[in-house]
Amino acid sequence: MKESLRSQVPPFYVMEVMKAAAHREATGGEVLHLEVGQPMTPAPGRVREAAQRGLVEDRLAYTAATGLGSLRRRVCRFYGERYGLEVSTDRVVMTIGASAGFVLACLALFDPGDRVGMTVPGYSAYRNVLAALGLELVEIRVDAQTRFVPSVDRLQMAAPLDGLVLASPSNPTRVTLTAAEMRQIAGYCSTSGTVLIADEICHGIHYGERAVSALEFSDSAVVVQSFSKYFSMTGWRLGWLVAPPEMFRPLERLAQNLFIAPPTVSQLGALKAFDCTDELDANVKTYAQSRKILVKGLAEAGIHRIAPPDGAFYVYADISHLGADSPALCARWLEELGVAATPGVDFDPEQGHRWVRFSYSESTADVAKAVGRLKKWAYPRLQFCDK
Ligand SMILES: Cc1ncc(COP(=O)(O)O)c(C=O)c1O
Repeated sequence: MKESLRSQVPPFYVMEVMKAAAHREATGGEVLHLEVGQPMTPAPGRVREAAQRGLVEDRLAYTAATGLGSLRRRVCRFYGERYGLEVSTDRVVMTIGASAGFVLACLALFDPGDRVGMTVPGYSAYRNVLAALGLELVEIRVDAQTRFVPSVDRLQMAAPLDGLVLASPSNPTRVTLTAAEMRQIAGYCSTSGTVLIADEICHGIHYGERAVSALEFSDSAVVVQSFSKYFSMTGWRLGWLVAPPEMFRPLERLAQNLFIAPPTVSQLGALKAFDCTDELDANVKTYAQSRKILVKGLAEAGIHRIAPPDGAFYVYADISHLGADSPALCARWLEELGVAATPGVDFDPEQGHRWVRFSYSESTADVAKAVGRLKKWAYPRLQFCDK
């Protein structure tokens, strides 16, 4: 059978690493999971209670394609509570995770052939979705010189752009834009007619100041958000978009036809998610501990060229001095050490061979164990490398 051209996107490598790790576990091997960014905690207690009540008492019929009105109103309140922003309900659309939100936003905003900028390294699923939708991906390389943030100079070099996809904290680097950086980029997008699609799905997981939202600097930005990360609800498949009010109808029409509605039981649970900050902030404290252990342990293993890990739960590290490229190295670590990590090629096809992404969203004990193994493995090689 003929495969469509659009289906010939590269795999999402992290899922391939997960598959290999699952195979190892199924055949009796141990795996310490540093590959996937998935909270090890379940959804907060009150979310699970509300969902259980829904299972018993609710018909669980389709909701409106844009989600429950009560949940959209709660999302608006959240923007007031967290960012001091007034967001009206005609700007909020509930989605099946950020993944479906991103597809909806791109379909509503762009036509085939439109030029959409994205950082490299950047979240690979977004790159591949842009390709599958027939959009022209314009790569904007970021590196240590600009703190892994796209400078206006680099955006100008990539112009003209119909859209710019920017995640803060970013995946894989987890660099978080400062207010000044976000103001500059949002300003550039407004004046150049570029739609800013801001992925804010790791907001809430920070170790210093909270991340700023693009909505604090722009009324025309489209924000992609999710219950997957801070709210610890990956498998509930729920997220939301905030878009200018004139985009509500186009998004609604597309959502009706593509997905009908986001999962009802997840929406009933999510109504309580915003009131669980004590439980969720306790998770962030655990990430902070794991982050310390991982960053220190990697440095002791000689892996110290890392992007500034401001937020979320990843460290993106340069491993080029270890003498192997990252897919081979990650395969070897899984086989020899039972440590799963994600090769940088997932995020940067050209230079990602020199980088590995480590996640510290699993238990602190597992992170510590994995780091111990990496140190033991690296030590003899480092002595060799340093000479
Ligand atoms: C930057 C970024 N955006 C979007 C997603 C997808 O999130 P969701 O589970 O809400 O579909 C991820 C998942 O890891 C991510 O890292």
